[in-house]
Amino acid sequence: RSIKSLTTSASSHILRRGYASEAVPERKVAVLGAAGGIGQPLSLLMKLNPLVSNLALYDIANTPGVAADVSHINTRSEVVGYASDAELGKALEGADVVIIPAGVPRKPGMTRDDLFNINAGIVKGLCEAIAKHCPKALVNMISNPVNSTVPIAAEVFKKAGTYDPKRLFGVTTLDVVRAKTFYAGKAMVPVAEVNVPVVGGHAGITILPLFSQATPKANLSDEVITALTKRTQDGGTEVVEAKAGKGSATLSMAYAGAIFADACLKGLNGVPDVIECSFVQSTVTELPFFASRVRLGKNGVEEVLGLGPLSDFEKEGLEKLKPELKSSIEKGIKFATQ
Ligand code: NAD
Ligand code: LMR
Repeated sequence: RSIKSLTTSASSHILRRGYASEAVPERKVAVLGAAGGIGQPLSLLMKLNPLVSNLALYDIANTPGVAADVSHINTRSEVVGYASDAELGKALEGADVVIIPAGVPRKPGMTRDDLFNINAGIVKGLCEAIAKHCPKALVNMISNPVNSTVPIAAEVFKKAGTYDPKRLFGVTTLDVVRAKTFYAGKAMVPVAEVNVPVVGGHAGITILPLFSQATPKANLSDEVITALTKRTQDGGTEVVEAKAGKGSATLSMAYAGAIFADACLKGLNGVPDVIECSFVQSTVTELPFFASRVRLGKNGVEEVLGLGPLSDFEKEGLEKLKPELKSSIEKGIKFATQ
């Protein structure tokens, strides 16, 4: 039997054992790029999420093995693997949340923008399929450069007449995860209690952690705050260099992607006060897209929250990041509209 029928029948068996009667709503999540460095652990984490009833795993290579493997885990969701372009439509049909970690990662010496030439086309193609097969899905864009891929997605959806700014998210959760970890280490507070908003975008200086708003409060010197900010901004590069040519962050990204997708699902299910940082269409600054805290709800973005009070250091960082973020956004728009 094919992997697909194997995984479907195995999971229908699980559903017959009673999960289908639970009060938790049915929710389909599709992972595009599911067999990649991020895709595999992210697919595992989504399989562990009890809010997911159907998990569609799509990749252009190695999908059958990943789907068969993940499908044996005895949790609620039915897993189906989709292995070729011809199957993309089926992978997307009925999806509530689509997570996109498809595309090439950085090697040492590269910027995220160096990935544009390859990833822009990949993201464009996938978003065209989303517009056709699941135009109401919440799209979680992980593929880099996020500062450009999100505007590309928006333009593709506009062209298809399906664009809803409430449903398009650049995933910047890894910046928040890093800021929390690094802050806890310096502030000597329990990491699980830490909260730090990270705003702006997702590349170098466009990543702006707001440590002045970090909780629990700690009296950190200006020097320490400067170092923490730089480490958060360079967190991706730290991993790229440590992996020495074998890719970029995958495990921490899968964790971050799973946190963000879970927040989207909770919002869709009507859980109140679900707030995460994300790169979304925004009026918080003069830029058309900007990452800030966002309240998630039944239609995706319920409210884009403001920046709150900034320190002088953060105000300066905000002004410095705008030109780079603006040009990355414009590059994405230009690519998609040409
Ligand atoms: P990877 O090369 O390990 O995996 C990418 C996967 O995408 C591969 O399995 C490949 O077959 C698949 N793919 C390529 N084209 C596809 C298409 N058209 N349709 C479906 N699948 C396709 O790379 P990775 O380490 O998983 O990273 C993926 C992307 O995520 C990169 O662009 C990377 O820069 C980005 N990333 C973003 C963040 C973030 O915070 N937003 C963090 C880490 C990595
Ligand atoms: C990250 O922040 O880890 C990702 O954007 C991957 C990268 O290229 O740094």
